[in-house]
Amino acid sequence: MRGPHLFLRVGVKRGVYGFTLFLAVLALLLSVVTFSRFYSQSSHLSIKAFASYLSADPRQVEGGIKETVDEIIEKIVKEMAHLRKTTTDDSELMRERLRYIDFLTDILGLIGSVKEPLQHIGSSAHLRPSGTAAVAHPLSRSNQPYDELVEFFLVEEIRKYMRIKPNRLGKQNFMGANGTFASIGHACFSMKEEMEEYMDYDVGDFCEDDWKQAQRLMVHGCDPLPRRRCFARAPKLYTKPLPINESTWRYPDDRNVRWSHYRCKSFACLARNCTGKGFFKCADCFNLTHHEMPRWTKVVYIDPSSNSTPDFLVWEVLQIKPGEIRIGLDFSVGTGSFAARMREFNVTIVTATINLGAPFSEMIALRGLIPLYLTINQRLPFFDNTLDIIHTTRFLDGWMDFILLDFVLYDWDRVLRPGGLLWIDSFFCQRKDLDDYLEAFKLLRYKKHRWVVVPKVDKDGQEVFFSAVLEKPPRPF
Ligand SMILES: *[C@@H]1O[C@H](CO)[C@@H](O)[C@H](O)[C@H]1NC(C)=O
Ligand SMILES: *[C@@H]1O[C@H](CO)[C@@H](O)[C@H](O)[C@H]1NC(C)=O
Ligand SMILES: *[C@@H]1O[C@H](CO)[C@@H](O)[C@H](O)[C@H]1NC(C)=O
Ligand SMILES: *[C@@H]1O[C@H](CO)[C@@H](O)[C@H](O)[C@H]1NC(C)=O
Ligand SMILES: *[C@@H]1O[C@H](CO)[C@@H](O)[C@H](O)[C@H]1NC(C)=O
Repeated sequence: MRGPHLFLRVGVKRGVYGFTLFLAVLALLLSVVTFSRFYSQSSHLSIKAFASYLSADPRQVEGGIKETVDEIIEKIVKEMAHLRKTTTDDSELMRERLRYIDFLTDILGLIGSVKEPLQHIGSSAHLRPSGTAAVAHPLSRSNQPYDELVEFFLVEEIRKYMRIKPNRLGKQNFMGANGTFASIGHACFSMKEEMEEYMDYDVGDFCEDDWKQAQRLMVHGCDPLPRRRCFARAPKLYTKPLPINESTWRYPDDRNVRWSHYRCKSFACLARNCTGKGFFKCADCFNLTHHEMPRWTKVVYIDPSSNSTPDFLVWEVLQIKPGEIRIGLDFSVGTGSFAARMREFNVTIVTATINLGAPFSEMIALRGLIPLYLTINQRLPFFDNTLDIIHTTRFLDGWMDFILLDFVLYDWDRVLRPGGLLWIDSFFCQRKDLDDYLEAFKLLRYKKHRWVVVPKVDKDGQEVFFSAVLEKPPRPF
């Protein structure tokens, strides 16, 4: 407790009164903004009408609104930060404060949703020369009848997929829905041609050998991709996989993979130290014997003189929570070796991966582990507070946009259970970016069990590794 109760109570009260006034102003502003939004939807001309209504230059009005909205956002964010900082032992006060923070978060969300169309007015609508019939993205138009969306595509199979399928007998189904709503990623609309090509097949026949196009669509945001009613091609001679007591550390049979879209045509080629394998991240991770076997079981010092390493060992990490770590996710670029190791400790790990230049999914599956075919674009397919551990390596690093990293970390936080562990394994970035990235990790406010920064020797010290084992706090609210 940082101050006497009385002071806190008075402080909160005064804050609430001040805030009521603030809300009134906000409501007024929101109605103005909504008004402008309403007008902006019909046409470019009506923005002018709205502007002349206020008898001012449209640009100035838009700029003014935007500035005010930004100011409001800043004020709310400040207020929230302030509220979060003050602590108290009084549980009722604390609950009230949390409710208040929730409320502010809501308001922020609402303002955010009107801010976006405003930016839209500011940039595209305004700069577009009048007369050019720019085709609006169907999803960007609101009040769009669903059917019109479906009609955007010419290939009948896409339309069939997307159309709402009403339940038979006209009743709600056991899931509480009156129909089935198949969804596709919004970027499918901007990749219309590829999408139509992908969905142009004969129902019941074999699909084209086109997983690579499918993956391309997914990586570029057409995710989820529609389902299809054709048979995916399989390897010509699929032999049965190795038994589980042998499969994890042995090379699978080459015949169990379709190699047509890869540069290497065998696992031996992928494991060899050769150039031109068709992928570069994790160039060694098909080399099970030399590269993968020792990982997380033996310490490798990158700089023997300094005795520093970003690697932690599996048993060390599991020691943090003996017997508690049972299920988890590995979001990495790799062949599933982390899951293989964890299995030896009776921990079940699913490995998120896509096939970037090599058959990562097939390799993981043939090792007897679970590959989860997933891009970074999507919300994780796990419910809140369910997993014991999330491990990541070679995936998040200096290429990542900070906002994207935020969305990823919050989603991971969502699926981790209270007391669950987040193992950031050898995240690397430029030294000058390190502080910004560390800030993103610190924002989670997790308990730090391990936290190291190690210079990366091969880049003249310009790059650094960061590793940490963090524990999600309980959030009993
Ligand atoms: C589902 O119900 C809503 C209203 O409850 C209705 O508007 C909609 O048409 C129904 N959809 C189907 C597919 O029946
Ligand atoms: C794996 O298990 C099978 C029977 O389940 C057994 O015949 C085989 O010898 C085992 N292999 C190894 C390497 O232990
Ligand atoms: C794995 O790498 C080691 C050394 O880098 C090499 O000697 C070995 O042949 C490789 N394994 C395979 C299967 O190519
Ligand atoms: C294989 O390549 C890795 C780097 O990609 C290198 O560290 C290793 O020494 C090479 N091994 C051999 C046997 O050439
Ligand atoms: C994993 O489970 C098996 C069977 O329950 C047990 O024999 C083994 O000791 C366990 N391994 C570890 C590392 O806990």
